[in-house]
Amino acid sequence: MGGVSRERIAAFYETERARYRRERPASHAAATESGFYSGVPLHWMLDWPMPYPLVVARAQGAMLTDIDGIEHVDFCLGDTGSMFGHAPEPVVRAIREQSARGIAFMLPTEDSIACGRLLAERFGLPLWQIATTASDANRFALRVARAVTDRPKILVMNGCYHGAVDETYVALKDGRAINQPALIGQFTDLTQETQVVEFNDLAGLETALLGRDVACVITEPVLTNCCMVLPEPGYHEGLRQLTRSYGTLLLIDETHTISSGPRGYTGAYGLEPDIFVLGKPIAGSIPTSAWGFTAEIAEAWSRVTREKPSGHSGLGTTLSANALSMAAMRAVLTEVMTDAAYAHMENMAERLADGLARAIGAADLPWHVARVGARVEFICAPGPLKNGSEARRAQVPPLERAVHVGLVNRRCLIAPFHNMMLVCPSTTRSQVDQLISAFTEITQALVA
Ligand SMILES: Cc1ncc(COP(=O)(O)O)c(C=O)c1O
Repeated sequence: MGGVSRERIAAFYETERARYRRERPASHAAATESGFYSGVPLHWMLDWPMPYPLVVARAQGAMLTDIDGIEHVDFCLGDTGSMFGHAPEPVVRAIREQSARGIAFMLPTEDSIACGRLLAERFGLPLWQIATTASDANRFALRVARAVTDRPKILVMNGCYHGAVDETYVALKDGRAINQPALIGQFTDLTQETQVVEFNDLAGLETALLGRDVACVITEPVLTNCCMVLPEPGYHEGLRQLTRSYGTLLLIDETHTISSGPRGYTGAYGLEPDIFVLGKPIAGSIPTSAWGFTAEIAEAWSRVTREKPSGHSGLGTTLSANALSMAAMRAVLTEVMTDAAYAHMENMAERLADGLARAIGAADLPWHVARVGARVEFICAPGPLKNGSEARRAQVPPLERAVHVGLVNRRCLIAPFHNMMLVCPSTTRSQVDQLISAFTEITQALVA
């Protein structure tokens, strides 16, 4: 399994789990007292591979301390929500000041007006809307895309994840589209409205678009939710050219790839999406997302709105764009998401990726490392990966679980999904080196 024997993985995992239990009695007591279904307020918190989740006392910058008093260097960073570090001072200040003036009015504030301008200037699309989660932003954007093109279908990449957006839960199995088997409570056949092709497959994409019934292609510019899959040279140019020639809109979901630079992967690589979505860190972890679109989409949306009967549109939620989140977003856009912050993150992530690759080489494991800006991943299979099917085959959950718990015990948190790591503007060189040496120790132990 990933170049390590099954027995070695099982033994290492058990040793590390026992150590975790010994060191964290307070988290254990808290977990068993919980009144929540499955012991946690959000069942995803059980996706961590430890015997029970650690309970957080506080976090600042790149450090996170649990209620047993153990300090960790945090490379999970709330699975991107806190990509700019925990409790950045400008965001804390903005939240404190705005919360004393009121939180939700269903009316704009000066901060929200400023945010609209800042988003347009930074990301290049002229018109924006705010939602509360990236899932919502994607859902609303896809609804608008279908309305303005008057086409029924969307197209996703095999292995994609765009949040809790029902119509994106379609995958390829033996070349055939199916509802993703893990999706709970789904009773419609999503493949009737959603096409699915492999990332990096322009011929397959063209075949899927031929019928001119696809309103929108939704994709991350780099797949980050199935093991990292980078675009091959020319892929994005081909994707844009094909979507344009078949009258299909292109939605680039930058929720994770905002790690690429201050203007996202789109800005760093000159992409030209019709719709741009980002969420998670954009308001410094306050639940907020933003979606931008072209003037043509805006005009067509206005026409659709004029012509439709009055009533609920299915777009928007009550607390979206509240004054608190807009104050936080303004602070992020003006004081946190700076070129200097990204330059530092890029350096640290490069150092991390190099160090992990060295450790893999030293242990002679058939693994590789992928990176998109501040986001780094080790993958327990050879690479680079070409598409979602290859990415699925590259996953080795028992081995990954063992490495994760080993890292937590060595005071390094990485995301519970895949083997994803992020650095933030305050991550230091010595914190990166701490993760590299923990990873080196673990890989050596696995092959000993
Ligand atoms: C690319 C992408 N889009 C959307 C989402 C959904 O974000 P949220 O859970 O904040 O709605 C995620 C979450 O991981 C994501 O990775």
